[in-house]
Parts: sequence; structure tokens; C-alpha cells
Amino acid sequence: MSSVVRPRRWLAGPGHDCEPPPSTRRPCRLVLLGAPGVGKGTQAGLLSSRLGACQLSTGDVLRGAKRLAACDRSPAMELAIAAMSRGELVPDEVVLEIVRERVDCLRCHGGFLLDGFPRTIAQAEALDGMLAAEHLGLDAVVSYDLPIERIVARLSGRRVCPGCQAVYHVETQPPQTEGRCDRCGGPLVQRDDDRPDAVRVRMQTYEAATAPLLDYYVARALLVSVPADGTPEEILDRTLDALDTRAASRA
Ligand code: AP5
Repeated sequence: MSSVVRPRRWLAGPGHDCEPPPSTRRPCRLVLLGAPGVGKGTQAGLLSSRLGACQLSTGDVLRGAKRLAACDRSPAMELAIAAMSRGELVPDEVVLEIVRERVDCLRCHGGFLLDGFPRTIAQAEALDGMLAAEHLGLDAVVSYDLPIERIVARLSGRRVCPGCQAVYHVETQPPQTEGRCDRCGGPLVQRDDDRPDAVRVRMQTYEAATAPLLDYYVARALLVSVPADGTPEEILDRTLDALDTRAASRA
């Protein structure tokens, strides 16, 4: 099993290299879809370790902007940060600018796992355009499904490391030392958009803006639905089986 690729080029922007370099095996290019808290980031980490492709999370880039000193933030960043903490989507033009600046990550020979992008039809159409310009296509769009009550329980127990973006859960995936990141030793925090009021807005926003992407990708014969119950490893195995089945049916 290869290790998770740390996508520094994605997180820090152009001019940075990933560690370790992405694998040179046949690249896998996936979009991971699903409601907030369903476990997309957890699966992206496991899939990265298995497939050697980078996890490209727009949420992680936006949270990175939040850690900048106020004087280093552009007006667009301030708007994005305010939208995130209310649980709303960041405007398409801001997100698309972030992704366009990082288009190298889409053409990377290691492939990619897009986590949290696209989230609207306009973003999906823009992604299609960026990939077409690079003569690339998606292998599949994996949609993770779980009833909303179980998702809310996952979100309320989530703790994250602001330093290295590792994700934990107080009950199902606790760190070895309470409140400390296993990976880098940093303090773990609760995300401010995991407050109940912001979670409600995120779920409504998902239904209104992001759920229509399921039909968008069904129409393009790319959607693979994966039940998101069970342990992260069980869901990983289910995802890999579903991708193998899809690849075999298209061979
Ligand atoms: P983003 O960071 O993308 O958040 P999200 O989509 O809301 O998803 P989450 O990160 O909350 O959850 P996840 O599905 O990754 O679950 P996780 O693996 O952590 O976006 C945040 C905000 O940024 C948005 O609201 C928006 O404002 C903005 N934004 C980002 N991208 C944007 C875009 N493209 N356009 C516009 N705005 C954008 O798991 C959750 C918890 O469950 C964890 O504690 C985990 O340990 C636990 N868990 C995971 N799997 C399991 C399991 N199998 N069993 C038990 N527990 C589990």
C-alpha cells in the first residue's frame, strides 16, 4: 500500500511539490460526492493511500485562507470565510478561481480525488471545460449515501487538526491521546461550521445546490453510488469493488 500523498501544490498553490510525489501508475480521476459529513474526506484519505492520487479538497484550501492574517486576506477571501462559517456555499467564481490556479493538479500524472468540488451545476460544467482543455476525462463520480440522522452524529463528534487537516471522531475514530493529532501532535478543534445552526444550513444547501449533480452525472454515465454505512475500511472496500465493477463493465 502506498502512503497518502500530501497535496502541497493544491493546498499551498502553484510552485509547490507534493510529498511523496504522486504515483506513476495508471492515474485514477474521481469526484467524490455526498452530503456534508457523510465521510468524503475520510474516504479520500484512504483512497489516496490505496490509489496514489492526491485528495483535492476545496474546503481545505478555503480553511487555509481562513488561517491567514486578516491583512493578507483579499476581499473575496473575507466573503468566502463568512459564507463558510454560516454553512453557505462560497460563490462559484471564487471557487473556480481557486481551482483554475491549481489546474496543474488536474493534469498530474498521479490522478486526483476531488473532494467537495464540484458542488453546483455551474462548477460541474466548468470542471468539464477544464478537463476537456487538458484532453482528460473522469473515471467515475462516487456518491456516498447515508441517512441524515447518522450524518449529523458524524459531524457533531468530528474533531480536526488545523495543522495537517487530519480528521477524527470522538467515538468512532478517536486520536491516541485525547485532543492531540496522531500525525503531527497539534491540538484538535471542532470546525466552526459543525455548529448545529451551520449544519442545518449546509444540509439545506446540499439538497438545493449539490444534490442535482447526481442527475447531471447519471446523464453522463459516470455515477457510482456507494452506501456509506459501516467502518471507513468497509466503505473503502465497497468503493474499490464498485470502481472495479464499473471498469470491468466498460472494458
Ligand atoms: P468541505 O470541507 O468540503 O465540507 P463538507 O462537504 O461539508 O464535508 P465535510 O468535510 O464536512 O465532511 P466529509 O464528507 O468530508 O466527512 P468526513 O470524512 O470529515 O466544505 C466546507 C465549506 O467550504 C462548505 O460548507 C462551503 O462553505 C465551502 N466550500 C467548499 N467547497 C466548495 C465549493 N466547491 N463550492 C462552494 N463552497 C465550497 O467525516 C465526518 C466525520 O465522520 C469525521 O469525524 C469522521 O471521523 C467520521 N466518519 C467518517 N467516516 C465514518 C464512518 N464510516 N463511520 C463512523 N464515522 C465516520
